[in-house]
Amino acid sequence: MIVLKTNRELALMREACIISAGALKLAGEAVQPGVTTAEIDKIAYDYIKKCGAEPNFLNYNGYPATACISINDEVIHGIPAKNRVIKEGDIVSIDLGARLNGFNGDNAATFAAGAISSEAKRLCDTTRESLYVGIQKAVAGGRVGDIGSAIAQYCESRGFSVVREFVGHGIGKALHEDPSVPNFGTPGRGVRLLPGMTIAIEPMINMGAAGVKTLPDGWTVKTRDGKLSAHFEHTVAITPSGPKILTLL
Ligand code: MF3
Ligand code: CO
Repeated sequence: MIVLKTNRELALMREACIISAGALKLAGEAVQPGVTTAEIDKIAYDYIKKCGAEPNFLNYNGYPATACISINDEVIHGIPAKNRVIKEGDIVSIDLGARLNGFNGDNAATFAAGAISSEAKRLCDTTRESLYVGIQKAVAGGRVGDIGSAIAQYCESRGFSVVREFVGHGIGKALHEDPSVPNFGTPGRGVRLLPGMTIAIEPMINMGAAGVKTLPDGWTVKTRDGKLSAHFEHTVAITPSGPKILTLL
């Protein structure tokens, strides 16, 4: 069931999203060689709590942390750990969110640790750009397939591949609501986009093949071929005047 939000609800949700964005910015600024993923998770946790909000990933389906921190060939859902030290040249995807006023925010970005290869930079740039390409298609009267096809076309034309097993999603009082928002699709197909819909658009883009596997920890998702992956995400509202990025600082 798709839940449409009133303007009043969107204003409440925006507050949760601003805290989510602030936490992601702080966490991203902490990414550098020698820092552990547990340290970054704590920075995000402390910030969200200080803002009077709750880390909405923590305990979600048993997830044990505030943030998902996924390095290099880890695609998503990397679990922060004290023994996981970021190295020079790593790309570090951080995904986190906050709940406030009964509403959720969700956002992600991939950060560079020190100097990274030009190919890694091109992957991160393309993935970030593809998120904005998708957001431009989040307009009333359009279809969910417009978003995914635009993202896939953008990334695949640059030689990268789109993860299929994990997708974006509606978001609101629940972290995951209908509809699913794949990063692939057919223009003009899928759920009709309406004012008041709030969705998390989150391209997960691989340097090599699209295939992924989940590790025995039950969470960490890696590329099958061991090549790099990047991830960017915003929470977006569809409004009569176009897409509004709620997780913009
Ligand atoms: N951030 C994921 C998403 O974008 C959700 C993480 S699942 C959790 O949908 F369990 F780690 F919270
Ligand atoms: Co999400």
